[in-house]
Amino acid sequence: MFRVVGGNRLGGEVRVDGAKNAVLPILAASLMASGPVVIEDCPRLMDVTNMLSILKTLGCRVENLENAVRLDAEGAYRWEMPEHLSKSLRSSIFMMGPLLGRFRRAKVTYPGGCEIGLRPIDLHLKGLKALGVSVRESHGMILLDGARMRGGAVYLDFPSVGATENIMMAAAAIRGRTTIHNAARDPEIRDLQNFINAMGGRIAGAGTDKIVIDGVAGLHGVRYTPIPDRIVAGTLLAAVAAAGGEARILRARPEDLGAPLDKLRQTGCEIVEDEHGISIASSGKIIPFEISTQPFPGFPTDLQAQFMALACLAEGTSVIVENLFESRFAHAAQLTRMGADIRVNNRMAVVRGGKLTGARVHASDLRGGAALVVAALAAEGETIVENVALIDRGYERLERVLTALGGDVRRIDQEGGG
Ligand code: EPZ
Repeated sequence: MFRVVGGNRLGGEVRVDGAKNAVLPILAASLMASGPVVIEDCPRLMDVTNMLSILKTLGCRVENLENAVRLDAEGAYRWEMPEHLSKSLRSSIFMMGPLLGRFRRAKVTYPGGCEIGLRPIDLHLKGLKALGVSVRESHGMILLDGARMRGGAVYLDFPSVGATENIMMAAAAIRGRTTIHNAARDPEIRDLQNFINAMGGRIAGAGTDKIVIDGVAGLHGVRYTPIPDRIVAGTLLAAVAAAGGEARILRARPEDLGAPLDKLRQTGCEIVEDEHGISIASSGKIIPFEISTQPFPGFPTDLQAQFMALACLAEGTSVIVENLFESRFAHAAQLTRMGADIRVNNRMAVVRGGKLTGARVHASDLRGGAALVVAALAAEGETIVENVALIDRGYERLERVLTALGGDVRRIDQEGGG
């Protein structure tokens, strides 16, 4: 649990680490390298630890270095994903592409849904079938046979991030040219392209809605630094906006946060961007705003919850529409316990801003949990946030980062010890 005492203005400088949603597919793609891969600035997160466990189970050698991780997939021999592990990590579904790229076959567990929605993988499978993969689903497992894989044209019905990444990885080391139409345009997709090209791949167009992959004979090892985590940066910016104060987020890239920065300016915050990062100054007075989450470069769904917490403090009514996931408002009920006035109707939440008071609240998903911490920093009195293990999935020692900025945030165990 976190114990947060609200009311402190925040200030100071923090640095963001490598992006979880860039590192996960990059680690998966490392399976296809014939030599060692070193990922610098690898964030110490539960999701990353789980992904490394999966790679180890497949036969990869994994070494945790000072601020990096070293992988050697030379000895990888298994193409069946371990059921118990892949259940624990939704993004194990990223392994389909690299397993097919390396072994021309794969056996993965049908990923369960999670707290924010069903998380179907129909677009992943449709894309792989377009590359000649045969797919058989039975008893909750998916058997993929890529013996006859070759490049092809893939049309995504929706710009799915995961599907785009899986298809890029599957196509990188097979014969022929693959084009992905209506591809996701997220910065993490561009990062994956740059990583695969650094391993000797030939991909172009990531960041646009059309990606062209020319398969190469093989991919070699590389040392690579992933992009900084725009969602962690956006979360910290929302925290400063909510609590009031001035801070600098080093390594945050303004071009990755266009929509959220524009929104923060609309709330009255002062934002300064430069090549080292992003600075924010907030009086703590928040002008109400409207958000409609969209695929990149629209407002990111992964910052929706944190900005809902901000809206609870605004002087007026804000409207938030969540278009990406069907049940990503669980944090609203918890914010209500802190005195928020939120009306949820299907994918729309109407938030009447005002004061927040500390309460005992429960995190039910990663970003929703972070939103409760943002709210607690600005709430009057003490808040206990339960189930912070979910927050640890995407934030490395969030309590330390916020304490460094002047927040009163402590990690306590269930019994309430220090
Ligand atoms: C990635 O998930 C991120 N995870 C998510 O971040 C993020 O919220 C999401 O992209 C959207 O930006 C990682 O990168 C590890 P999608 P992903 O496929 O790839 C539907 C976090 O907090 N869909 O773009 O699963 C799907 O149901 C996490 O770090 C299909 O219908 O997202 C959803 O409604 C949460 N069929 C929408 O597309 C498919 O085959 C977006 O999903 C695939 C997706």
